[in-house]
Amino acid sequence: MLTWLVDWLHLLTRWFHLVVGAAWIGASFYFNWLNNHVRPVPDPTGRLAGGLWAVHGGAFYEVRKFKGAPEKLPETLHWFKYEAYFTWISGVTLLLLVYWMDAAAMMVPADSTLGPSATAGVGAAALVVGWLVYDGMCRSPLARVPVAFSSIGFALMTGAAWGLSQVFTPRAAYIHVGAMLGTMMALNVFFVIIPGQRAMVDAMSRGEEPDVSRGAAGSLRSLHNNYLTLPVLFIMVSNHFPFTYGHEAGWAVLAAISVIGAGVRHWFNLRGKGHLNTWILPAAAVAMFALAFVSHGPRARVAPSDAPDFAEVQAIIEARCVTCHAAEPAFPAYTEPPLGLILTTPESIASNAEKIHAQAVATHTMPLGNVTQITESERETLGKWIDAGAPLP
Ligand code: HEC
Repeated sequence: MLTWLVDWLHLLTRWFHLVVGAAWIGASFYFNWLNNHVRPVPDPTGRLAGGLWAVHGGAFYEVRKFKGAPEKLPETLHWFKYEAYFTWISGVTLLLLVYWMDAAAMMVPADSTLGPSATAGVGAAALVVGWLVYDGMCRSPLARVPVAFSSIGFALMTGAAWGLSQVFTPRAAYIHVGAMLGTMMALNVFFVIIPGQRAMVDAMSRGEEPDVSRGAAGSLRSLHNNYLTLPVLFIMVSNHFPFTYGHEAGWAVLAAISVIGAGVRHWFNLRGKGHLNTWILPAAAVAMFALAFVSHGPRARVAPSDAPDFAEVQAIIEARCVTCHAAEPAFPAYTEPPLGLILTTPESIASNAEKIHAQAVATHTMPLGNVTQITESERETLGKWIDAGAPLP
């Protein structure tokens, strides 16, 4: 039917999302780098915050940063906003296409009492509530105490990750936390950073002294965006790594990764300002190893002699998986095996044992939407066989 069209629409939206996202984050990283690297320069006007020289792509560039606004507006002033808007719009479109419109398969966990529409509704509401809470925090006195602000913000984000993991499938929970943070970043640009700059520019074109406090509010949001980038990007790529979102405490894995990511970002920010911190990077490396160890942590070991019969395992896979995971899937929606995964031979089942564990035992991601109605005890059988080392007869 029209599945080829939907597939292409999905692919093009994802491609577009990635391209505009790269442009946004590239600009954000570049300006943050600039801010950290400008140094005092000769300045008879007293209006400069600093400047720097750079060489790139075979050309030399000189940049100057102003403390407030320049005396006179240049004819052409470049703005950076469409990258953010288009990233957000394409991201929400993807959420809609992949998750909200297919909530029964992608969002609703096996034991849920909420229906698909209600579950998708919770997803959309999370984006709105997340923004309202964050924006309220930024406008409160809390914003003036960075340590308190970031600790409370982090606790709330972790709480949201935990809460969403109670009502969504693990993957949907992760992606919605990412979408919440991404929404905060995009709306920071839309509601605070750009209007503040607009007000400054308008005042100047009327010949008035611009209100630089608007610029300061914008820099605070810009700094938040800078720290949020790393957790958001992590969440977006983690979709390919079920041992993150699929962990039984996936929300805690996310919290740990976010702290490590923000720590590394902080190290770069400090270094840019000329402070060389010696312990953050080693601590982040140790934390990463510890996390890898704990998250892959002790799984039940089963003696090979206790492994279920392979014939039993294969029968389960035949009944519950190969309608889709075959060279020519019988399932009407697919003309090819999803992600190229074929589970029709004993060797293919054994060599994909860890993936099967991640998708069908540790989590209920597969079978998709449980259309083939696998039972809990069948999942346990698969798990026991894999924990015994996936032995073939
Ligand atoms: C209704 C069709 C359908 C059924 C039934 C199904 N799957 Fe899948 N499977 C998919 C789709 C679609 C994807 C790709 C999802 C995505 O894009 O992330 C997938 C992906 C996977 C992956 C990830 C592969 C990778 O390289 O990351 C694994 C593992 C998997 N399925 C295992 C299973 C197992 C085990 C079963 C049976 C218990 C099963 N699937 C049943 C449709 C199905």
